[in-house]
Amino acid sequence: MPAGRAPEQRLTQDALRWFFAAWPDAATQRELGRWAQAAGRECGGRATRRENIHLTLVFLGNVAAARLDELKTAAAGIAGGCCELAVDRLGYWPHNRIVWAGTSVTPPSLESLAATLTQALATAGFAFDRRPYVPHVTLVRKARRAPSFAPRPLLWRVEEFALVRSGRDDRGSRYEVAERWRLARKNDSA
Ligand code: 2AM
Repeated sequence: MPAGRAPEQRLTQDALRWFFAAWPDAATQRELGRWAQAAGRECGGRATRRENIHLTLVFLGNVAAARLDELKTAAAGIAGGCCELAVDRLGYWPHNRIVWAGTSVTPPSLESLAATLTQALATAGFAFDRRPYVPHVTLVRKARRAPSFAPRPLLWRVEEFALVRSGRDDRGSRYEVAERWRLARKNDSA
């Protein structure tokens, strides 16, 4: 550890990973946090901390500190619209043992927000994971089985998107919103 750095200061630039996400309002985050707890109790594994709950749009990984302004400028140029996301499904992926929450109908403006962002970042010369986009909220990691309960669907109004940094603290992964951008009030609902 370099001289002068406080021991509790764990989120060093080198350890940070960056991603864009739809960040839920407090009530949506609380409710999805309850789903995560319930799924964790039933399925085993590690439930996502309530304050970390989000829906990834584009995952970048490590970004050089010198390029962060460029990243924010690219994001600021995005013209996306608000949408209503009906979160009405729970699922389980055995290959990575994730229990997730998702939607049976992906609003076109969410799809297009992720695609426009991906394109803008590629144009700006950022490298990132090009997995096909499957919108989901990770509720539990290292789960042993699929959840059997069906929570009451919730409506999430996506009115902004965020640049988020992911690091670690004493309790595990910690996500912090670095900047937010409002989406235009128009477009479709779920
Ligand atoms: P996941 O929850 O399905 O793992 C922060 O890691 C967020 O970025 C998570 O929502 C994670 O999705 C997502 N993500 C997408 N691609 C990733 C990758 N290649 N590595 C780590 N996280 C990734």
